[in-house]
Amino acid sequence: MTSRVRAGVLISGRGSNMTALIDAARGADFPARVALVLSDKPEAAGLATARAAGVAAQALPYRDYAGKPAFEAAMTAALEAAGVEIVCLAGFMRILSADFVERWRGRILNIHPSLLPDLKGLHTHERALAEARAEHGCTVHFVTADLDAGPIVAQARVAVRPDDDADRLAARVLVEEHRIYPKALATVARALRL
Ligand code: GRF
Repeated sequence: MTSRVRAGVLISGRGSNMTALIDAARGADFPARVALVLSDKPEAAGLATARAAGVAAQALPYRDYAGKPAFEAAMTAALEAAGVEIVCLAGFMRILSADFVERWRGRILNIHPSLLPDLKGLHTHERALAEARAEHGCTVHFVTADLDAGPIVAQARVAVRPDDDADRLAARVLVEEHRIYPKALATVARALRL
């Protein structure tokens, strides 16, 4: 096999999608490995989870930097130092600048809990219920300067049930997130090696 693509995962919280990527990357045939996890929040639970899995993990607290350009320069420096070739946003709760996105163009993915282009932005499960949608789901997409609008790599659909509340619906969507994000990363990583 050609060398595995080195992935960097950006998180802000519990990191369950990060864990799904790390677990998938244990597979002998998986074309990527998680080389580094970064969090803008030092208290993110996912940092400890990554370290426990033997993955390098570093907090870059946003408040330690003079502003977004300095924060993003530190992220890029850490990613480059780890030899990262593809960036996976996994519950990373900051909007990235056009400059950062351009640096990683075609090599930066996000997972969003809706069937994009529907329900961009936050609180997607609550909004799916409020709008009485029959279907909901999740999307892995390339990140571009337009929020939640880059080319779609993978999607999974979830039927909304009459007795759903936001937590129950989110839990079923999350199962699908954990399934499609590793598959999408594998697809993009293989394409990078062609
Ligand atoms: C997920 O629902 C993801 O789609 C969204 O934020 C949540 C992050 O969860 N962007 P986790 O940190 O991966 O557990």
